[in-house]
Amino acid sequence: MQVSQEIADIIVDPAAYAQEKPVDDAFTWLRANAPFAQMQPEGYMPIWVATRQEEIQNVELRTDIFSAAQRLPILTTEAVFREREKSGFTGARTLVSMDDPDHVEFRRLTRSWFLPKNLNNLEPRIREIARASVNRMFELGGECDFSRDIALMYPLRVIMEILGVPQEDEAMMLKLTQEFFGTRDPELNRAGGDAANDSVKAQQALQATMAQMTDYFVALIENRRGTPTSDLASVVANGRIHGEPISVGDALGYYIITATAGHDTTSSTTSVGMWTLAERPDLLKTLREDPSLIRPFIDEEVRWASPVKHFMRTAMHDVEIAGQQVRKGDWVMLSYPSGNRDERVFDRPFEFDVTRKPNRHISFGYGPHVCLGQALGMMEMRIFWEELIPRLQSVELSGTPTRMLSNFVCGPKAVPIRYEMN
Ligand code: HEM
Repeated sequence: MQVSQEIADIIVDPAAYAQEKPVDDAFTWLRANAPFAQMQPEGYMPIWVATRQEEIQNVELRTDIFSAAQRLPILTTEAVFREREKSGFTGARTLVSMDDPDHVEFRRLTRSWFLPKNLNNLEPRIREIARASVNRMFELGGECDFSRDIALMYPLRVIMEILGVPQEDEAMMLKLTQEFFGTRDPELNRAGGDAANDSVKAQQALQATMAQMTDYFVALIENRRGTPTSDLASVVANGRIHGEPISVGDALGYYIITATAGHDTTSSTTSVGMWTLAERPDLLKTLREDPSLIRPFIDEEVRWASPVKHFMRTAMHDVEIAGQQVRKGDWVMLSYPSGNRDERVFDRPFEFDVTRKPNRHISFGYGPHVCLGQALGMMEMRIFWEELIPRLQSVELSGTPTRMLSNFVCGPKAVPIRYEMN
């Protein structure tokens, strides 16, 4: 069925993601009427959009056909695309923009570090950080902006420790990661309001952010090469790729993807969890009575939040998907939030349900590129809620929550709450 221009424009519009409902409605229509369809949002090149789990998973698994490396794996406007071509700016090479044989080799480098067996060693320290965050919430005296005051800072501290970034540099790293994902948000962007409506300005601001991150991380790489420790930063800085020492540029890409992917995703999901609890007193009561439901609560908050809104793939060959003819060179958008509301996979997909079993969400992606930090993110969230739930007696919204303007990685910007805790 023909996709209207309105729907094509909504599903790429950062402001529509901030409102959520227009995007939910657009994806619901697409799943029912055109689950794998080509469209051209205004200002963009034509894109195929996969909205059901079946097609998203199919594209992710067919790495012989669909490349993450051939073209940027993140949606950009045509103007930015041309600007990047003109300036030759490619940004750092990272896992999300690699194909095999490099991709598998780069994942191998940190595979054992990210295994639950190794992560378990970090649990006591992560619990300390979680406890400090919960204590901070207590000290705030019953009212705070949960997103800004608590959820942003907790995963940031965890990931920065893992990367060996000292606490005094955290505020700067927070600013840089927010600029990175908030390129179109007037409050978060480095260039301010101007960049919200001008994708080329937004891109230039992003390049300045990347340059600052590069300087910082290159110094850290050199430090870890000289004096290695057991942290992730040392594993990467001293790693070998195809038998040779990893280049500074590639180590840098690894640091950047870990610093950015490992932080906003987890904090957005935790903020969404609190937003839900504040609207559902019955849920807090249930979790307090039966702590074994904390794990399914986290699965459901990850499905509900879907903080990564898309990744892109480029077809390397002609191929038929869901009866549609995709041509070599075509760009494909994988919509994880839509896959997480797929009526063919979930009963009552628009209901937050902690008893959902199984909960086959695709918030962490699927296939060879599936989130490398999934176990770490899940562990961080489990420890946080295990520490907070027994102490949280009540919570309600004390204002209207807002969301970040982005079509890539985003979640709540403010979740004002009033609460009682001990
Ligand atoms: C990739 C989601 C937490 C590191 C991804 C992808 C998604 C995702 C959707 C792309 C998967 C695909 O293309 O199929 C999430 C969510 C998180 C989270 C929802 C938390 C709630 C983390 C954490 C880290 C991390 C804590 C690291 C410390 C990465 C990396 C990749 C990735 C390195 C690239 C993997 C690759 O391309 O091979 N994540 N992530 N993520 N994530 Fe996460």
